[in-house]
Amino acid sequence: MTVLGIENVSKSYGEVHSVQGVSLNLGEGERVALLGHNGAGKTTLMRMVLGLTPLTSGSIQVLGMPPGSRKARAAIGFLPESVAFHGALTGREQLHHFARLKGVKRRVADDLLERVGLTHAMNRKIRTYSKGMRQRVGLAQALLGQPRLALLDEPTSGLDPISRHEFYDIVDDLAKTGTAVLLSSHALTELESRTDRIAIMSKGHLLANDSLSNLRKAARLPIQVRVKATAETADDMAARLGGSRVNGASVALEVQQEGKVSLLGQITGLGDLVKDIDVTPASLEELYRHYSVPKQEGK
Ligand SMILES: Nc1ncnc2c1ncn2[C@@H]1O[C@H](COP(=O)(O)OP(=O)(O)O)[C@@H](O)[C@H]1O
Ligand SMILES: [Mg+2]
Repeated sequence: MTVLGIENVSKSYGEVHSVQGVSLNLGEGERVALLGHNGAGKTTLMRMVLGLTPLTSGSIQVLGMPPGSRKARAAIGFLPESVAFHGALTGREQLHHFARLKGVKRRVADDLLERVGLTHAMNRKIRTYSKGMRQRVGLAQALLGQPRLALLDEPTSGLDPISRHEFYDIVDDLAKTGTAVLLSSHALTELESRTDRIAIMSKGHLLANDSLSNLRKAARLPIQVRVKATAETADDMAARLGGSRVNGASVALEVQQEGKVSLLGQITGLGDLVKDIDVTPASLEELYRHYSVPKQEGK
């Protein structure tokens, strides 16, 4: 079932075209990472889904209802880019406050504090919290009322790798209960690859929308292979494999996925000449750059 349907949506502020002809669907339990540099249009898109910003053209449906309608709002949990907290409140008091606004019981709020791993600190004032802990309060707030759609705007920026890991564990649990999760990020890390799909925005346009493995295949970025020889044998090896000698005693090669296995066979055929092999697929950062840099005319 389609939880979020975005159909050919555009948003202009005068001459600024923030979002241009974007179509994107999310089904139940789907986790989608919306990637793009600052100014790509990610927050604008989320604000339109929330009904906070009117569309210039196109249409959006949340569970079949227009954005901003009472039912659509009730179905959405939102974690804004920067959440405003009362630093003088404890984490628990703050979440109880949000719960009251949403008409959710305190018990449920306390359960959520446990789910985001804040129980131990819930009676401390928020001003003593680290960035990661504040983000957890924000996430608990977004999960109040069991949303069918969670919109998380840059939820992992500023988090250390361990906090990111824990954050994605919570996202996984959420998706397992059927909630569709759209989370934006300005940098693709190993963890964003834990989503089902990656949508890449640049200058208001949606440039890619697929699983990470399909994006990798379609980009056809070469795999880097490094073979270690010795100072005496590196030139000979470079000539035999058709690579270039690097760092004194190694040979660097590039190969596409379909040629990888036969190249590795050729390398192992060199026997004792080979001291070590490293095979590195295109990094997530290279992949992101490939899709987010607009293609030049005629290329
Ligand atoms: N209220 C606004 N008025 C004018 N321009 C805006 C407004 N909100 C966003 N923009 C512009 O829209 C573009 C996309 O912004 P935004 O959606 O915040 O990008 P992102 O969240 O991907 O960083 C930017 O060029 C930004 O300056
Ligand atoms: Mg933003």
